[in-house]
Amino acid sequence: MNRRRFLGQSLATAGAALLATRAEAANSPASSNQAASHPEVSDHALQGPFPGSVPDAAIAAAGFPDGFLWGLATAAFQIEGAWKEDGKGESIWDRFTHTVGKVKGSATADVACDSYHLYPQDIAILKQLHQKSCRFSISWPRIQPSGVGAPNPKGLDHYSRYVDALLEAGIRPFCTVYHWDLPQALEDRGGWPNRDLAGYFADYAGILAQHLGDRITVWAPFNMPWTVAYLGYGSGAFPPCRSNYTDFLRAAHTINLAQGESFRAIKAASSKATVGSAYGMSPAYPKTDSEADRAAAERYHAFNNVYFLETALYGRYPDAFVVPTPYELMGFRPGDEKIMKVPLDWLGFHYYTRRIVRDARVAEHSGSGGLATETLDTANGGDRWTQLVAVMPTEGPLTDGGLEVWPRGIYDLVTRISHDYHQPIIEITESGCSYLDTPYHGDNGRVPDARRIAFFRQELAELSRAIADGARVRAFHAWSLLDNFEWADGYSERYGLTYVDYRDEKRTVKDSGLWYGRVAEANRLDV
Ligand code: FCB
Repeated sequence: MNRRRFLGQSLATAGAALLATRAEAANSPASSNQAASHPEVSDHALQGPFPGSVPDAAIAAAGFPDGFLWGLATAAFQIEGAWKEDGKGESIWDRFTHTVGKVKGSATADVACDSYHLYPQDIAILKQLHQKSCRFSISWPRIQPSGVGAPNPKGLDHYSRYVDALLEAGIRPFCTVYHWDLPQALEDRGGWPNRDLAGYFADYAGILAQHLGDRITVWAPFNMPWTVAYLGYGSGAFPPCRSNYTDFLRAAHTINLAQGESFRAIKAASSKATVGSAYGMSPAYPKTDSEADRAAAERYHAFNNVYFLETALYGRYPDAFVVPTPYELMGFRPGDEKIMKVPLDWLGFHYYTRRIVRDARVAEHSGSGGLATETLDTANGGDRWTQLVAVMPTEGPLTDGGLEVWPRGIYDLVTRISHDYHQPIIEITESGCSYLDTPYHGDNGRVPDARRIAFFRQELAELSRAIADGARVRAFHAWSLLDNFEWADGYSERYGLTYVDYRDEKRTVKDSGLWYGRVAEANRLDV
């Protein structure tokens, strides 16, 4: 499943997801022609003006506040390998990757980038590139192999050494507590729909803060909680591969409870801790100016972007549904509003691409201008709660992963979040693009990934504009430090600013990485 389909599966409705998949099959020859077989086409498309692009003069003028935290992000399962070393337990992603037919190319992450052993090399690259922040995640089954009980000292020691090495390199450690690798033993106890997991998760987060909280001050409990709940339990695209809307609603509610409980557990164990988030977000634009489409875009925002944010800030669910919020199905109990509500210290979110959204109940007219996914057959699994259809448009150029490049999206997202939540401190926890450039002997082994540089120049200029307009953004983490195991896409996508040769694990910093290092050093884009 490529990135386009990954996001297709993330559409707010099961019905839309099914249709997106069908439409993608129809569309894929065109997009792969553009992106992979003729890379010069995309290359060219990103160099000059393209729909939504930022003029060079604006890029040259873009500024960032003093002390801005330039960073790179990774996730344990995607880079570490060592899947059963030093007492680590099995995770749901181990089980998934060891099941025939789940991952592109039958790839596993048993070795991945071998960062469990090679992390000193990774940190040396961060230092070479003048990075100020590294967002990484901790593998729950390394710390608690079965998800509960006493911690595994070898797991804790590993991350303790890792954090020390970051600090020694002058880099802020930003810890994501959960980036998708649930201990399989907890899935066997019912997984996220089982509300007991909120307590288990808080225990795990508390253990981390107790052992590492003297050195880690920045924590995000969940990476992309919506994706965990929806792709894991709603659409079934990701492990544990359940497709049941009620399981999705219950999983999401447990995660909301877990977010609140872990916030308190981390703070109780470490007085230095600040706790925020790492949500996945896409700005949603209504398909037409009609009231119905504008309302559908708002439901998308409520459901996909702030479903775990408003619960934390206000202790209540945002209005994501066309029917009253289905509290009973979620397993909501009186008092849960108090458990969910926590004053996040800062807000973190990712930006990759945008969505065009319309009301699923209004008949579609011609000239949709996006993927042909904009019909919803409610008889075939349509979502009667949200009634929206979201598509990824193709107006801007596409990455090799099939995502539309739309620099303005980050401006719109950041300014909206700033406005709606009273100018919070913001961290961009991820943003990036998959391009398949490889080392080229004609370039002395360099990786000339000009399209990635163009992508970040454009996007960061838009981020700078949001900051100039008052948003309090203090950090940006490019995804990713390394090419890595891209979930169900295996190794067929390359998001890294460093190339990894999986035959010998050799790391080669790409041209984009060298450029990003100069940006971090100079605090501007024209370098
Ligand atoms: C994000 C995930 C990250 C990686 C990038 C490409 O949604 O958080 O692990 O897969 O996408």
